[in-house]
Amino acid sequence: MTITIDQLVSTYRTRNPQSLELFTRAQASLPGGNTRTGVYVDPFPVYSLSGAGACVTDVDGNERLDFVNNATALIIGHAHPSIVAALQDRAALGTAFFGPTELEIELAELLRSRLPSLERLRFCSSGTEAVLNAIRVARAFTGKPKIAKFEGAYHGIDDPAMISYMPALGPDLGPEDDPRSVLSSGGLAPGTAESVVVLPFNDPVACEAILRAHSGELAAVIVDPLSTAAGLAFPQPGFLESLREITTSLGQLLIFDEIVSFRLGFGGTQGAYGIDPDLTCLAKVIAGGTPGGAFGGREDVMSIYDPTGRSPGIPQSGTYNGNPLVAIAGLATLQQMTAEAYAAMNHLAQNLGTELEESFRSADVEASVVVAGSMFRIYFLDRAPQNYRQAALDSGEKHRWLNFWMMNHGITTRVGGCLSLPMTQDHTLRLVDQTRCALKEWPF
Ligand SMILES: Cc1ncc(COP(=O)(O)O)c(C=O)c1O
Repeated sequence: MTITIDQLVSTYRTRNPQSLELFTRAQASLPGGNTRTGVYVDPFPVYSLSGAGACVTDVDGNERLDFVNNATALIIGHAHPSIVAALQDRAALGTAFFGPTELEIELAELLRSRLPSLERLRFCSSGTEAVLNAIRVARAFTGKPKIAKFEGAYHGIDDPAMISYMPALGPDLGPEDDPRSVLSSGGLAPGTAESVVVLPFNDPVACEAILRAHSGELAAVIVDPLSTAAGLAFPQPGFLESLREITTSLGQLLIFDEIVSFRLGFGGTQGAYGIDPDLTCLAKVIAGGTPGGAFGGREDVMSIYDPTGRSPGIPQSGTYNGNPLVAIAGLATLQQMTAEAYAAMNHLAQNLGTELEESFRSADVEASVVVAGSMFRIYFLDRAPQNYRQAALDSGEKHRWLNFWMMNHGITTRVGGCLSLPMTQDHTLRLVDQTRCALKEWPF
């Protein structure tokens, strides 16, 4: 028997009364009860109480297997004993100082040992700040005013990043091989749309033509190499290489936003593809579940931040840059993420993807599942998309139904998800079994 979305939402309301009460209370203080647009759920989100390993318990006492892991950030799961102990020990020694600690050097050294392109780096407090700084230093280094980004891609919420971020499909977007700059937020500084050139992912010929046409004014190209927010998609063979070549030849800096894609493996996506970007942006897993970010790359570019003996070209400050709690959590996380740990987790994810695809196939539901490292993305499309416009054809309605079905059955997913280190085959098989059960009630 099929179940409608209204029935699923009605069950969700019944099972989450405390969350509904908190949401109602939140509306008196927070606009729409919300302080992070990406986590808003209609009619209301569930409020978390605690997390342990692969699971999260909400305020109504529902425990769910968590395949979202705070938007991929929690690579070793929730409240890992090593992180809890490291944070407790560190908190007892003081949580923040007006000056550096040795921990920021240790985390910087660890990151440099995994990403050889990071000749020098600096810390900040979020991915948004990492991107903001990478773009600023690219402009300062090249003396050029504009940047190029890919259509649909998410790079946080600084002004240039809010151009063509998951725009609605339609004639406003312009031709597929020469996308228009579209505002994705109110309140952007005047001229933001004109200062951002938009590129189509996985189209090297179009990218080269656009980058050449703007070569005199472009400081940098920023790319999320797995297109994680614009629809998880692998770069086609040679695509990243061609971006590297053309940007080098035109004197533009290539920025990899590895805020999510660093999760792909020990050396991030740049390591897996053997590409050295000029600059890299990091956050999420490198901060071990605390609010931290980093950016860095070529020594000559990053020297603009160097304050020794002179005024730096860019005076980057931040009350919590290199914060000891962030650094210790990042170190405790990354020390566990050995090459073997990545291999085991990614293998589990690969099998999960195969089993999920088989579940959809045997239920006669058109879907494809993309697996990149420990991340997976379900598309209700006949094939895996190659760019934002193809990914945007996916069915929001079907995902909404599946998300609510899973929430009601003890699993959190969001158009797919990611694994965490504590997950075992029991956990992934539970998702596969529940997917099979859900498809028996599939109303589409
Ligand atoms: C690819 C990418 N870049 C940048 C960001 C912004 O990071 P933050 O939320 O830490 O500001 C995100 C956040 O999800 C992201 O996915």
